[in-house]
Amino acid sequence: MSRARQAKQRVRTARGRPVASTRWLERQLNDPYVHRARDEGYRARSAFKLLEIDAKHKILKPGRKVCDLGAAPGSWAQVCARKGLKVVGLDTEPVEPFAGCTFLEGDFRDEAVRNRLRAVLDGRADLILSDMAAAATGQRLVDRLRAEQLAELVLSFADEVLAEDGDVLIKLVRGAEPAARAAALPRFRNVQFVRPPATRKASSEMFLLARGHRATAEAPARA
Ligand SMILES: C[S@@+](CC[C@H](N)C(=O)[O-])C[C@H]1O[C@@H](n2cnc3c(N)ncnc32)[C@H](O)[C@@H]1O
Repeated sequence: MSRARQAKQRVRTARGRPVASTRWLERQLNDPYVHRARDEGYRARSAFKLLEIDAKHKILKPGRKVCDLGAAPGSWAQVCARKGLKVVGLDTEPVEPFAGCTFLEGDFRDEAVRNRLRAVLDGRADLILSDMAAAATGQRLVDRLRAEQLAELVLSFADEVLAEDGDVLIKLVRGAEPAARAAALPRFRNVQFVRPPATRKASSEMFLLARGHRATAEAPARA
């Protein structure tokens, strides 16, 4: 890393620029993961969260088909594609496409959108990633309940599309762990929580990593 980067950069509060954006800008300028993302051609620093989780838990296995929920701007899909994995991504926002990935636009909470996603997945995923997060309200209870509901929805979607022995990684906020664990335990052989080093210190996020999907009558067999 260059010396210019090592020296902490301060951003002057410009007239008209809210204090929050000045702080955001200062944080971006001084965040080594932001610089690495730019240097390595990733669309977002969150690429490193997935890379760190994979370095430890080896979830991005060759040949896997990945369902990437909350895919925009596309850095997790980039990580998967660089490892040669096929990705079907979904987001309410458009994602600029690239080779090896198919992106759909829509809200995962909408059943019609999940039906479209299931059709594009052609019935099967080996790994479901969910980096989705509802916009924070600042009310801890509301944010926790929303995260729990979204996690529950991802786990029921896994019942329908995830292959036997498949894995799921779901972003949560602090406090949502007990409900998410209770929902995941009957469906997976191993359930744990991970917080990769790239997660910002002040953030309350962590990930549920559920491995070894137990087949149900609904779940598709591995092709
Ligand atoms: C932190 S970003 C994901 C970053 C992405 N993993 C990457 O590495 O580029 C969270 C994304 O989740 C999306 N999202 C949140 N709720 C969603 C929902 N209900 N359905 C689809 N996408 C959703 C947001 O639009 C946002 O783009």
